[in-house]
Amino acid sequence: MTRIVYVNGRYHRYADASVHVEDRGFQFADSVYEVCEIAGGGIVDLDRHLARLARSLEALEIASPMSLSALAHVLHETVRRNRVRDGLVYLQVSRGAAPRDFAIPPAGTRPTVVCLARALPLGQADQVAQTGIAVITLPDIRWDRCDIKTVMLLPAVLAKREAGRRGAKEAWLVDRDGFVTEGASSNAWIVTDEGVLVTRSLSPALLPGVTRATLIDAIRRERLRLEERAFTPAEALSAREAFVTSATNTVMPVVRIDGTPIGDGRPGPVTMRLRRHFHDIAPVTN
Ligand code: PDD
Repeated sequence: MTRIVYVNGRYHRYADASVHVEDRGFQFADSVYEVCEIAGGGIVDLDRHLARLARSLEALEIASPMSLSALAHVLHETVRRNRVRDGLVYLQVSRGAAPRDFAIPPAGTRPTVVCLARALPLGQADQVAQTGIAVITLPDIRWDRCDIKTVMLLPAVLAKREAGRRGAKEAWLVDRDGFVTEGASSNAWIVTDEGVLVTRSLSPALLPGVTRATLIDAIRRERLRLEERAFTPAEALSAREAFVTSATNTVMPVVRIDGTPIGDGRPGPVTMRLRRHFHDIAPVTN
């Protein structure tokens, strides 16, 4: 349960926390965000999340509301005030509130900062990972700057709805050339028959996942074979294993794509080993 929410310099009770009706995040999705995992009361991969937030702000020329170390303090304090040991912390920074106009408001408009933290049932993701998740494939109907983590998430919301309708947890989005870009809220991976880990290389077409980056560090350290390149749903169907990465699910096995089992239809050994080791690798700040 979220008890306390940070909004623009103050900590409010959940029920009392609010932002302006003309916030540009609300009217134009003119806003960026981060979701970090909380493990044992610490924030996982905080520096990478803050660096990506800074990059998103810069890409949209939204003024940074405060220094990264001040933002880190807000994140930690929100986690602390909500007494979350395992869960997530969410930070959103919008361009601020101004009378509705497509034109960017004058310099000096104060960005809106919201931070909330929430406990997640301990072990829930581990339980899901025991059997793995199903994904479906859908056309990627998003814009050309998916590398910026904006709150413009309607395509992801609709993709998740369709996934749910078809008994799946995630949708893999397929570009016009027939290659998987990423999941609606995760990065997509396969392990080929030769044991090569494959995930799409970074470009404006996909989010540079923090979990993806940390996992790549681990893969390199373990000298596993890695190819950063695009793959098609057909290649994924013939893969030995598949999985997705995201802050809240770390490494989550994919066992079915569009109803077809991957490998033997159970979470693969490479995937599960990476999942088990993820928290040994990812830095946690308290
Ligand atoms: N989603 N791709 C997309 C489109 C995402 O929305 C996310 C994360 C990822 C994985 O990124 P990371 O490893 O940094 O979490 C990839 C978050 C969790 C969300 O919107 O809730």
